[in-house]
Amino acid sequence: MGGHSFFLLRSLNPQLLLGVDRDLQALDIAQEKLTGFKNQIKLIHLQFSQISKYCQENNIPKFHAVLLDLGVSSLQLDSSRGFSYRYNYPVDMRMDQSESMTALDLIMKSGEDELKEILFQGGENQFAKRLAHKIFQQKNEIKTTEDLSEIIRSAGPRKNAVKRMARTYQALRIAVNQEYSQLNEFLEGLPEIIQPEAVLLTIAYHSGEDRIIKKFQKRWKQQNQAKPSFSHVIKPSREERNKNPRSRSAKLRIIRFIS
Ligand SMILES: C[S@@+](CC[C@H](N)C(=O)[O-])C[C@H]1O[C@@H](n2cnc3c(N)ncnc32)[C@H](O)[C@@H]1O
Repeated sequence: MGGHSFFLLRSLNPQLLLGVDRDLQALDIAQEKLTGFKNQIKLIHLQFSQISKYCQENNIPKFHAVLLDLGVSSLQLDSSRGFSYRYNYPVDMRMDQSESMTALDLIMKSGEDELKEILFQGGENQFAKRLAHKIFQQKNEIKTTEDLSEIIRSAGPRKNAVKRMARTYQALRIAVNQEYSQLNEFLEGLPEIIQPEAVLLTIAYHSGEDRIIKKFQKRWKQQNQAKPSFSHVIKPSREERNKNPRSRSAKLRIIRFIS
């Protein structure tokens, strides 16, 4: 964690870098990695949706650049918090362990239609209806990710099982952590906390996030608030994908504000 921050501090040497994460463990690791820059950094435990309010209330100077690296980290995927179908752990999926609702709580409290909506919104899952039905019917049998994975496996053809599992886990994680509303609220408040001509870099890992970013970029352009510095998306090189296969779906977009 703190990899991008380390690079930015070393190459741009800013007066202040504000690092935000809702995961305390990620902040601890970043703190350690960035000890050499301790007079230039402020790492805070916060949700993206709270950043604008926090900065305004704490008189944080307006930013010249903002980097938004979305989604889930490898630290989280490989943890015992149930983010991945590759391991057998309780179905938790909370990025912020101080939040109260786990993914299992969400499954238990949701009706079949709500589950279908969650699976479709976060995973564009063509099996959303069938999956929602199965998960709803068998929810009392779910304790760990292995129980959940078994239900997902049985809800469609074997040859698509891995893709189905990845999309279902992704959808549940997005819903538990309210990632879409977090992103919408962050982007809504962003113009309040940036300098004229500030640059926004976003890294999205799936179409749901990317769609929200494109919606805001379009709005800012129409309102003459911003112009895209690059008209296309930047994707990881083959070398990067080989080194870090989890980067394969990443899309970097860059936009420069005008005023
Ligand atoms: C892809 S990782 C970032 C990795 C980081 N850029 C690095 O260089 O190590 C995404 C991080 O965003 C955090 N995150 C996701 N949604 C968040 C939100 N709404 N508020 C705060 N942090 C969030 C996750 O906890 C995770 O640590």
